[in-house]
Amino acid sequence: MVKVAPSLLSANFTCLKDDIEKIENGKADWLHYDVMDGHFVPNISFGYSILEDVSKVTNLFLDVHLMISEPQKYVNEFIKSGANLIVFHIEAMDNKEDTLVLIHHIKENGVRVGISIKPNTPVDTIQDYLSLLDVVLVMSVEPGFGGQSFKEIALAKIKDLDTRRKENNDRYLIEVDGGINETTGKKCKDAGVDVLVAGSYIFNSDDYAQRIASLK
Ligand code: DX5
Ligand code: ZN
Repeated sequence: MVKVAPSLLSANFTCLKDDIEKIENGKADWLHYDVMDGHFVPNISFGYSILEDVSKVTNLFLDVHLMISEPQKYVNEFIKSGANLIVFHIEAMDNKEDTLVLIHHIKENGVRVGISIKPNTPVDTIQDYLSLLDVVLVMSVEPGFGGQSFKEIALAKIKDLDTRRKENNDRYLIEVDGGINETTGKKCKDAGVDVLVAGSYIFNSDDYAQRIASLK
């Protein structure tokens, strides 16, 4: 069954603990934590000190999506703050050597590692790293904001990754992020996705559990 990862970006920050409890009780599988720096993306969200607080009130697997420039500079802080998975963007990396160092550094610290690609970034860009990854995060919107519409280009990439995974006997999970609801989630599942991130679809509702169930 597909995993569902509610994106905290759309939660109510005046009662964050309650919202986290609700998604945990509502059978969320992961908690998706969107970090934005106002540089890699044109928006600012939250950093590692809030992650540390969040990690203390939940047992959910913490899926940290770094939408930041120079992720290698900050990765240790996210590791220390309780991340279970760290996903960085290939577009934020300058060269292959730095990318490999970062992948190995995250793994050596006992944290899972993923790479994300924006809607216009081809899968070929990350071909050399696929065998090393735990997760590939396919963006189905331009990163930066919740509540945008799903871009169909993500479906071909999910299928492509699923095919490559079978051909090469790789074991990474395919995750999709942006504009996910019951309809777009179904299309992604048909294409071979393993993890659905959903922000506004879950949190802009009175019944988080029902919304999570509708995605599975
Ligand atoms: C967008 C973030 C997403 C966002 C998804 O840049 O990476 O995780 O919260 O929000 P929805 O599900 O509302 O598109
Ligand atoms: Zn995200």
